[in-house]
Amino acid sequence: MTQTLSGPHTLEVALGDRSYPIHIGPGLLREPGALAPWLAGRQVMIVTNETVAPLYLAQCRSALPADAEVRELVLPDGEATKNLAHVSRIWDALLEAGFNRRCTLVALGGGVIGDMVGFAAACYQRGVAFIQVPTTLLAQVDSSVGGKTGVNHPLGKNMIGAFWQPRAVLIDTDTLDTLPPRELSAGLAEVIKYGLIRDADFLAWLERSLPALRDLEPAALARAIQRSCALKAEIVAEDETEQGVRALLNLGHTFGHAIEAHQGYGNWLHGEAVGTGMLMAAELSARLGWLGEGDVLRVRTILRVAGLPLEAPAAMSPEDFLARMRLDKKNVDSRLRLVLLRALGDACVDDATPLETLQALLEQFPRG
Ligand code: NAD
Ligand code: GLY
Repeated sequence: MTQTLSGPHTLEVALGDRSYPIHIGPGLLREPGALAPWLAGRQVMIVTNETVAPLYLAQCRSALPADAEVRELVLPDGEATKNLAHVSRIWDALLEAGFNRRCTLVALGGGVIGDMVGFAAACYQRGVAFIQVPTTLLAQVDSSVGGKTGVNHPLGKNMIGAFWQPRAVLIDTDTLDTLPPRELSAGLAEVIKYGLIRDADFLAWLERSLPALRDLEPAALARAIQRSCALKAEIVAEDETEQGVRALLNLGHTFGHAIEAHQGYGNWLHGEAVGTGMLMAAELSARLGWLGEGDVLRVRTILRVAGLPLEAPAAMSPEDFLARMRLDKKNVDSRLRLVLLRALGDACVDDATPLETLQALLEQFPRG
């Protein structure tokens, strides 16, 4: 593929014989047979939801070869559907269709569909192929890459799941044209995350480019998606199963997952909760003397310009936060492990934050 900024661009997630491409570009889904190279056999099931189906299901179908045996499953929409009952519907449909180990699942939608379809693929007949076709900004820059799959549990976000890598990720940037602005902002939170954890130059570029990104300006979007995917691919290749550096991708997530679960899945968007969580992590880093007030102001400003909430939920007490945070997957034994910022562009995992410092943050952080 030709590599231009807003034209098609290909990256690789380097995982040995499980390596796979990330194709990024406008109109990729309109290319007939675009998904053909990654099918395990002729049996293909496209899984999407009621919102995405009328927009992109026909295009996705035409991206499959004419001789494929295609089934479609349209699930209800929403974070509240990210549970085992809906994954079971995928397994039911596969069995009813008589699909075997050589089938391929296509996840067409945002992170909810991608996480559920990936988990269904990981477990069906002990593991079948799947392809990610992400249609939200959040899924294009984060959830479709790296093989984290799974569902929520009433007691905790993403608590049930598996690492299962897709065969390919096809990012058609044109699909963002129909994305509601609130969802675009949620995706920008994860883009900003990459700058905060690992790339200060990218962060500075984002500070200048957010208005263009919110206007869906193609060159700006292409750069944001390409850089985010490149950073994610690099981290996943280094640490697929999160034994080390991959944990940094969870900046803001310990606070954010607590907000999502406490508020009821779907009431706060994942990206919104991560955005507020990143501000909480920045403020905690300042309380530890690692960031200056100017750094925290930069974080607050970029999140505000991205259209993200800057206050935690009014009804959420410090105890509500702590109870949820104690269930975080990063914790080891009973120690809380938090992703914090030594500087903007330089994140670390910390398990020595004094509880009283964390409690003071949780008490004093603004509520809205
Ligand atoms: P989502 O999947 O709920 O999609 C957001 C909304 O946009 C939905 O209503 C969806 O139907 C709609 N939509 C999707 N594409 C559209 C389009 N092109 N035009 C119009 N509407 C469209 O949410 P999300 O933000 O994409 O993903 C959030 C989920 O991803 C969370 O469950 C989160 O835990 C998960 N996640 C997973 C990883 C991972 O590594 N696996 C990383 C980050 C987030
Ligand atoms: N979104 C966090 C990860 O993929 O590791």
